[in-house]
Amino acid sequence: MQIFIDTADVREIREAAALGVLDGVTTNPTLVAAVGRPMREVLSEICEIVPGPVSGEVLATTYEGMLAEALELAKIAPNIVVKIPLIRDGLRVVKVLTSEGIKTNVTLCFSPIQAMLAAKAGATYISPFVGRLDDVGHEGMDVVAQIVEIYNNYAFETQVLVASVRSPTHVLQALRMGADVATIPLKVIDQLIKHPLTDVGLARFIADAAKIPKAT
Ligand code: E4P
Repeated sequence: MQIFIDTADVREIREAAALGVLDGVTTNPTLVAAVGRPMREVLSEICEIVPGPVSGEVLATTYEGMLAEALELAKIAPNIVVKIPLIRDGLRVVKVLTSEGIKTNVTLCFSPIQAMLAAKAGATYISPFVGRLDDVGHEGMDVVAQIVEIYNNYAFETQVLVASVRSPTHVLQALRMGADVATIPLKVIDQLIKHPLTDVGLARFIADAAKIPKAT
């Protein structure tokens, strides 16, 4: 499974890239607003830091507006993936972009049926938002399981990108379900690394190492 980081903060991206496990980046308008920089400038810098797929989202909601913005975003760098919301005109835009060879990430997906439509439109990635589903009393990861099943049943090539990840448990479930990608905030990436028994074990090794006699 590929690991993307879910942020527009280049400091966080550099930190995650330095770990050697980072495959790509996702952003959204909220994340870009949080860093207080123009969309094009920040995406361009991220694309220089990470050679893998970098998702940047359109802000328009009309067919013409989304298409025009998508074509502009695609010019930023070869590794840009254009994020399009899962709405009626969004699906039309995905179809056109796919025919032009532009990669797409269909965002704000909350059901397996929506995911099927995105795949038929030719989306490169589908982003089910598992944390936001959990927030309203659904099992977000059940939606991922159903999408994986449906995509396997019909050999859809769209990759399942688990988004709105809030915990290591989401990541573990995504791995077990065979999701293609999880996009993860830095805080959760850190939680994946840490284990209390690792810390206890390391402290003991350090203490015992001090007792090893020095060579004479
Ligand atoms: C990723 O592509 C999404 O924009 C993101 O994961 C949403 O996460 P949130 O629900 O924590 O805002």
